[in-house]
Amino acid sequence: MSESKGKIGIIGSGLIGRSWSMLFAAAGYKVVIYDIDANQVSSALEGVREQLKDLEKSGLLRGKLSVDEQLQLISGTNKFEDCVKGAKYIQECTPENFELKKKVFQQLDQLADDHTVLASSTSSMPASTFSEDLKHRSQVIVAHPTNPPFYCPLTEVVPAPWTKPEVTTATMSIMKEIGQVAVLLKKEVLGFALNRIQYSIVQECRRLVSNDVISVEDLDKVMTEGLGMRYAFIGPMETCHLNAEGMANYSERYGEMIYRITETFGPNPKWEGPGHEKIIQEMNEQIPLDTLAERRRWRDARLTALAKLKREME
Ligand code: NAI
Repeated sequence: MSESKGKIGIIGSGLIGRSWSMLFAAAGYKVVIYDIDANQVSSALEGVREQLKDLEKSGLLRGKLSVDEQLQLISGTNKFEDCVKGAKYIQECTPENFELKKKVFQQLDQLADDHTVLASSTSSMPASTFSEDLKHRSQVIVAHPTNPPFYCPLTEVVPAPWTKPEVTTATMSIMKEIGQVAVLLKKEVLGFALNRIQYSIVQECRRLVSNDVISVEDLDKVMTEGLGMRYAFIGPMETCHLNAEGMANYSERYGEMIYRITETFGPNPKWEGPGHEKIIQEMNEQIPLDTLAERRRWRDARLTALAKLKREME
C-alpha cells in the first residue's frame, strides 16, 4: 500500500462526485466523500468499487495502484465537517442549482482553513456569482470536468477575479497530477468554453432540422462520421491550419466564405415550437426512452475503446 499524498474532500456523491473520487484515489490521494443523503454515500462507494473493477478489466485503470489499494483510499461520511477538515483540496459536486451552490460554499467558508482549495464542478456558474461574500473567496475556483470524466479528461479551470494566483496554480497542477487535461480560462464567461462551443453546435443543428434541411438521424452522422472523427484528435484551429498551407493561407482561401455562410445562420432558436417538437419526436423514434440505459452502456463502451486507442497512440 502506498503512502497517501493528502486528503481530498468530495461534496456530493452523484455521477460526478464518484468520478472525481476515482480520479484522485488513482493518483494516491485519500478521498473522503460526503453527501446530504446517507444512502447516496453507500451507493457511491459500491458504485466506485464496480467501476474500478470494470476499468481494470478493460485495461483502463489509472495510476499504479491496484483496485484494492485505490478502494482503501476512498471512504464516505455523513458529516460535512469530517469531509472538509484537514483537506488540501475540496471538489464540490452538488446539483446545478445556484441557491444550493451558494449555501454549500457558505458552509465550506465556515470550516475551511486558509490554504484549502475550494473547487466547484459547476457546468455553468462562474465562481464570482456564488463566492463574492465569503471570507475565503480567494480560495474558490471552478474545475469543470467533462462527462464521463474517466474517458474525457478535459477539465476547465476558471478562477474568479479574486481567486489567488496560487490557488489557480495549485488547481492546474493537481489536475495534471491526476491525469486530467486542464485548460485555464483567463476570464470568467457564462457556460465556460466547452459548453459555449457545444451549445453553438447544438443550436445550428436544431436550426438545420427545424428548417427541414436534414433529418435528426443524418445530422448526427455529420458529427459522428465527419467532424467528430477529426475532433477526437485535432481541434477546429488545427483543422484549419492543416486544411490549407497554414492558418493565414486558410483564412485567405476560406475566410470570406465562412463569414458569408455564418451570416445566414439566423436568430437564436428557442427550445419550443413545432420545429423543436419534431426533433423530440424523431429522437424518441430513433432511441425510444425505455432503451436509454442500454444506449448509454453502448456509448460508454465506445468511449472506453476510444480512450484506450488514444492512450496507446500517445
Ligand atoms: P447528481 O445529481 O448526480 O449528484 C449530486 C449529488 O449531490 C447527489 O448525490 C445529492 O444527494 C448530493 N447533494 C445534494 N445536496 C447536497 C448538499 N447540500 N450537500 C452535499 N451533497 C448534496 O449531479 P452530478 O451530475 O454529479 O452533477 C454535480 C455537479 O457537476 C453539477 O454542478 C453539474 O452541473 C456538474 N457537472 C455535471 C456533469 C454531468 O454531465 N452530469 C458534467 C460536468 C459537470
